Amino acid sequence: MLQNIYQPHEEHSKDARIKNMEEYHALMNEANTDYEGFWAKYANEKIDWFKPFDKVLDESNAPFYRWFDGGKLNVAHQCVDRHLDSRKNKAAIIFEGDNGDQRILTYRELAYEVNKTANMFKNQFDIKKGDRVVLYMPMIPEAAISMLACAKIGAIHSVVFGGFSAEALKDRIIDAEAKLVVTSDGAFRKGSPYMLKPVVDDALKSGCECVKAVCVVERNGEDIHWEDGRDYSYNELIKNESPVCDAEPMDSEDPLFLLYTSGSTGKPKGVQHSSAGYILWAQMTMEWVFDLKENDTYWCTADVGWITGHTYIVYGPLAAGATTIMFEGVPTFPDAGRCWKMVEEYQVNQFYTAPTAIRLLHKMGADEPKKYNLSSLRTLGTVGEPIDPAAWKWYYDEIGNGKCAIVDTYWQTETGGHMISPLPGATPIKPACATFPLPGIMAEIIDENGEPTPIGEKGFMCITKPWPSMIRDIWNDSDRFVKSYFGDCKKDGKPVYFTGDGAMIDEDGYITITGRTDDVINVSGHRMGTAEVEAAVKKHASVAAVAVVGKPHEIKGEGIFAYVVLKTDDNVAIEALAKEINNVIKQEIGAIAVCDDIVFVPDLPKTRSGKIMRRILRSIAKGEEITQDTSTLEDPSIVKTIESIVNSCTI
Ligand code: WT7
Repeated sequence: MLQNIYQPHEEHSKDARIKNMEEYHALMNEANTDYEGFWAKYANEKIDWFKPFDKVLDESNAPFYRWFDGGKLNVAHQCVDRHLDSRKNKAAIIFEGDNGDQRILTYRELAYEVNKTANMFKNQFDIKKGDRVVLYMPMIPEAAISMLACAKIGAIHSVVFGGFSAEALKDRIIDAEAKLVVTSDGAFRKGSPYMLKPVVDDALKSGCECVKAVCVVERNGEDIHWEDGRDYSYNELIKNESPVCDAEPMDSEDPLFLLYTSGSTGKPKGVQHSSAGYILWAQMTMEWVFDLKENDTYWCTADVGWITGHTYIVYGPLAAGATTIMFEGVPTFPDAGRCWKMVEEYQVNQFYTAPTAIRLLHKMGADEPKKYNLSSLRTLGTVGEPIDPAAWKWYYDEIGNGKCAIVDTYWQTETGGHMISPLPGATPIKPACATFPLPGIMAEIIDENGEPTPIGEKGFMCITKPWPSMIRDIWNDSDRFVKSYFGDCKKDGKPVYFTGDGAMIDEDGYITITGRTDDVINVSGHRMGTAEVEAAVKKHASVAAVAVVGKPHEIKGEGIFAYVVLKTDDNVAIEALAKEINNVIKQEIGAIAVCDDIVFVPDLPKTRSGKIMRRILRSIAKGEEITQDTSTLEDPSIVKTIESIVNSCTI
């Protein structure tokens, strides 16, 4: 049985950075009374400025907010160089390969590699401040090194998750107008090599004239196609570079990176983050939410291709001077005890993963945790999707042995770092609940009129004041930036940042995230836009129309459910067709976007003005009763037809 509330453990509270709710409220009060003073204090304390900032927050061109104007800093210096005095021989990155390979980089060694790589980018590829570099990398130290090398010379990186297809990679390269692509031959997964370089070759076949060179790290040693004059070996070039490289002084607002993410409409958006505000909050949340101590070993299982990997594998931990683990493999290889074995081996103190992984490991290896000594663990984190009470309980009892705090961290690519989360030494935790906004974050649940929603009622999850690590813009599309985030919700008549999520507050002020209110599906904690998946499905020659919705999935949280109308209703082999459609999705986006269900229907429920009623399709996919008014549909009878097709498919 789950308790209602889990009090913080005495031994965590006593030397935690935030020890109790009084301290939490005191910090919140500080932020409420003097918002700019609150942030200025931390910015001065945490960042090793080359030149101090003159202005804390500039709201004159809202929602294009500016933080810490006039300040100069360098994020690679903040993450690496400034630690060399006190931590030069401390492990910065512990790499564990899929095959058990191990590589440990101290802060000194990391500085050495980052500087050589930065010099290589500058000298060999002519990368200058502001140039874009796309990283299409596996989970190897060179991914982090390349990110930091970009930061060191002021180049803007755009990491593309290694699971994305050539087509998806190409779109991102073109949108960012990248000059250089850094990749590897491939890597290892589940004991076998897999390839990345051929995907880059495919992506560059047409339309990527902006790319002048491809820099290839050797990881799996497999044969790859080589294009002389375009492809260069990282391992060869790096040998000749100097390990000394001055950090480029960057303005606080200079972009640090772009990261593409899905929206409810159109193509993925290049979320643009700043230098100072981003790194400040990455470091602060790392310290507060994981309650990091000097000798801790911290492990986040995400991939560097997502924001979690950016903020909580690379930038946050390193800015905080922590030891961060990078794991190339998957949690279920060679068996579902891999993570717990690694926790024992490295004596991991904080473990951070997605509810999907917890559900999978529970299902595949319920007895595995017992085989290992997990007593080093203090804080367990979850991210990316709501965690259900059953998964929460298993995590708490079996992994944490009832002794760890579980931090259910709510945030987004756009927020840069955590927004709502328990604090391990302070917050009495309600299972499966993100609890309270972090100090300094003005998170509010409001209704259409900007009024706080009553207790127990769903509203819009908004952040009503700008915060340092917020998205600054959408690359190449400022209009979309304003419309996507500041178009829907207003408070006191002024547009405020809307997350796209619904949420509820309970009688004790606890916040529960209820999920997206837009056409975004959350598959295994990864965001998928319905429009993107639909555009991919439409590329199949036999498809006339398609609508895609999310459907609850036991392991993934949500799965993708597609309703497809074919061009001809001649007898077609629908099973083969469904496979073909998923293959098109793999080509256009990647395996993460394949549909769990594809049903073929004669038509879609459309209003007379031609709008597809997705809500009805969502209800049908879930097997729910249709409560929506169907009388406005062009053909109300289609609902019954689709229902009976779905029922006959899923029995
Ligand atoms: C969306 C953001 C944040 C890094 C990983 C995903 C959902 C995220 C939680 C949570 C419930 C969550 C939201 C959000 N989400 N964390 N703890 N509880 N939902 O980043 O791809 O930008 O997705 O993930 O719906 O909007 P992302």
